[in-house]
Amino acid sequence: MAGRIPQSFIDDLLNRVDIVQVIESRLDLKKAGREYQACCPFHNEKTPSFTVSPNKQFYHCFGCGAHGSAVGFLMDYENLSFPEAIEELAHAAGVEVPREAGSDFQPDPRREDHYGLLQRAERFYRSQLREHPQSARAVDYLKQRGLSGEIAATYGLGYAPPGWDTLLKHLGSDTDTQNAAVELGLLVRKDDGRLYDRFRDRIMFPIRDRRGRTIGFGGRVLGDEKPKYMNSPESPVFHKGQELYGLFEARKASQKLERLLVVEGYMDVVALAQFGLSNAVATLGTATTPEHLERLFRTVHEVVFCFDGDNAGRRAAWRALENALPVLREGREARFLFLPEGEDPDSLVRRIGREAFLEKTVDAVPLSQFFFESLGRQVDTRSVDGRAHLVELARPLLQKLPDSVFRDLMLDQLSQQSGLDRKRLSERVFGDPAPTPRQTPHQRARGAGPSPVRVAIRLLLEQPELGTGIQCPSGFEDLEVAGVSLLTELLELVRQRPHLSLGGILEHWRGKPEESQLARLATQPLEVPADGYTAEFMGAIQRLLEQRTRQRTEQLLLQEQGQGLTDAEKQELKQLLVEHQPISQ
Ligand code: UTP
Ligand code: MN
Repeated sequence: MAGRIPQSFIDDLLNRVDIVQVIESRLDLKKAGREYQACCPFHNEKTPSFTVSPNKQFYHCFGCGAHGSAVGFLMDYENLSFPEAIEELAHAAGVEVPREAGSDFQPDPRREDHYGLLQRAERFYRSQLREHPQSARAVDYLKQRGLSGEIAATYGLGYAPPGWDTLLKHLGSDTDTQNAAVELGLLVRKDDGRLYDRFRDRIMFPIRDRRGRTIGFGGRVLGDEKPKYMNSPESPVFHKGQELYGLFEARKASQKLERLLVVEGYMDVVALAQFGLSNAVATLGTATTPEHLERLFRTVHEVVFCFDGDNAGRRAAWRALENALPVLREGREARFLFLPEGEDPDSLVRRIGREAFLEKTVDAVPLSQFFFESLGRQVDTRSVDGRAHLVELARPLLQKLPDSVFRDLMLDQLSQQSGLDRKRLSERVFGDPAPTPRQTPHQRARGAGPSPVRVAIRLLLEQPELGTGIQCPSGFEDLEVAGVSLLTELLELVRQRPHLSLGGILEHWRGKPEESQLARLATQPLEVPADGYTAEFMGAIQRLLEQRTRQRTEQLLLQEQGQGLTDAEKQELKQLLVEHQPISQ
């Protein structure tokens, strides 16, 4: 893994790229006044509510609330990780991404070689499926499983020939290459140091990352030998808990994927594709992880899990449900398709055909139904005890759900089934009655109107230059008012990096709770006309300084009566009492 990307590089990169160009090359943007609009790619809509501001270098959807900088857009739209999105922008801008040294993670210069080597192996296996003297057995096997040459090519299927050193010979005698092949699990080193091929006499399924680079393999025997499947081990480029077999191919097959099927096996993915259902992905012999789910829901809004109908399958489905809860928000839907005894998606689609299979996926059990049926099976809801138990069972699970309409609906249903009224249930599950926005008595006494902190932050986000000339008097950040430390940080940032746009500013809070707070604020309408920004902003800062003066004065007066003041404090108090602190612009 590589070192951290310096924040200053990210700042500069975001100053250099234009979010309009980034999005324009992917969506159909139309100019509307000073901004651009499109139909939102993150939810279904007919009239555009997705807006891109060239000024702020920020996008925002008024429909679903999606928002962010060019980096955030690439992450969500292209399903990229943060470093991948930065790499992509840097590549387009023609610059190299620097990495900070000195962290645990040093850049690995061999990483690129890893991809190259995996590609060589993939090509080798593919060529052997056509050329090897024994390839007829492999081709027959694929035919017997109903796969066409076209589908085999789409998924890059290959053949690892029998024998201990066919790949070894193909890769040659270069030691660096051999060592890398061992690290990638293509070759295995024996205790005596000799090398041999890991995959022998197997059908090879290349596992690709989201960019289509091969990062590992699964290999199936042609007969009944054990183990049936052999997989590449974890390596610097292959992490089973994150990757989904078939995701690259699914995205490639359809521009606008809406639903993904999660199945268990390589063969299931490929067989479904053979029947024209090219939206299936498989976890790689592991349970569905939260990382998988995040990746799935960043790609589509509906995920259908296919599991065996037996007990083991139901247990696996329940685990998937538990991992899905934290990522379920509005517009994200999970369903469960339980397969008939003894069938997997591969055998089922062959037996009942494409249409009937498709129907089953559409009729799959919604997560909420599976949830309440499973819990209901564990208790007797006819008794008070049983209903109380139901609430206790549901509680830790519902707590995992983000605050959303979906969570409200789940609570409604629990209320129905337990007979406990909605309000008391909410208190039981979430501890608190529905939270009301908290105001300090001080704010309430002053009546309506947003707090000066809020006004100042809102305006700074709108027009960061407002803050560039302001020098906050010392002690400003000690003001005991909610949000002051965030305002101070923001002022500091725009002073140090005066050219940051809103998109660039928000990147400084990526992954922190303040990020969504700031973004929400930034998208609220402003009541002041643009020529009034400066006055409004200075007014808010002035009010804060007065508040600070009052607070400090009260504090020193109190202290004077108690422990007493030092000479310096006496001096300070005297000054506070006679004059206002000026602010310089
Ligand atoms: P299954 O045993 O259900 O096989 O394993 P399958 O997908 O139906 O395969 P076919 O139809 O017999 O060819 C499901 C998945 O579990 C992992 C693989 O990822 C496989 O696709 N697995 C299974 C292994 O990793 N090793 C094994 O030995 C068996
Ligand atoms: Mn199978």
